[in-house]
Amino acid sequence: MKSMKYSMPLFMMLSGCTTTTSMVSPPAPLTTGNVVEPLPTVDTSETTVNDQASVIIYFSNTGNTESVALVLQQITDSDLVEIQPLQPYTNEDLDYTNDDCRANREQNDESARPQIANTIDLDGYTTIYLGFPIWWGNAPRIIQTLLETYDFSGKTIAPFCTSGSSGISQAVRMIETEVTEAIVTEGTRIDPDNAITELTQWLETIGLDG
Ligand SMILES: Cc1cc2nc3c(=O)[nH]c(=O)nc-3n(C[C@H](O)[C@H](O)[C@H](O)COP(=O)(O)O)c2cc1C
Repeated sequence: MKSMKYSMPLFMMLSGCTTTTSMVSPPAPLTTGNVVEPLPTVDTSETTVNDQASVIIYFSNTGNTESVALVLQQITDSDLVEIQPLQPYTNEDLDYTNDDCRANREQNDESARPQIANTIDLDGYTTIYLGFPIWWGNAPRIIQTLLETYDFSGKTIAPFCTSGSSGISQAVRMIETEVTEAIVTEGTRIDPDNAITELTQWLETIGLDG
């Protein structure tokens, strides 16, 4: 892991030493095709934006980013689409304490582009909320697969992440480099336990609060 700039001990201390334990345990979403149906668990009646032209596209293995995406869905009334890896990540794949685990190998390999199983339809969406966990200070390589597969020209990408402690700035720079024809907003790291408050503040900051 020599090429990685992130100091692993810090997030291991903050997030625990196993990737199999989620910070939160969200209820399993209902899935219809590629679109994940929302769960009516959060009262956001005063903050709903009702922007039908937006979609939340997220990648999540242990549920943290998914739980944030579900809250964001309720605040913004966006559609919700999960990035499904063609080869799902096992607990072993995510064991970052093992230098040779799949996730670490991918993050160490600038050319790694894990395949996405589902087709993602961007037609008609002007705003794309893009959610992912931080892996070694950056977005997982599958996010680069997404950005290189689809045409984001003219769209607004609003990136959010979950992590043990790392921020999103390196991932935002990566997204800006990948998608030069899109507008990339300020990104944010969201604590799943404080998602409504933090997401609402972020949406206001980036001017997507309706
Ligand atoms: C391979 C791997 C690398 C990680 N690297 C970081 C990191 O650099 N910084 C950090 O704060 N957390 C790191 N984490 C912790 C995840 O970002 C965190 O657990 C995240 O919330 C997981 O999201 P998910 O439940 O949606 O998959 C890493 C986790 C894995 C599996």
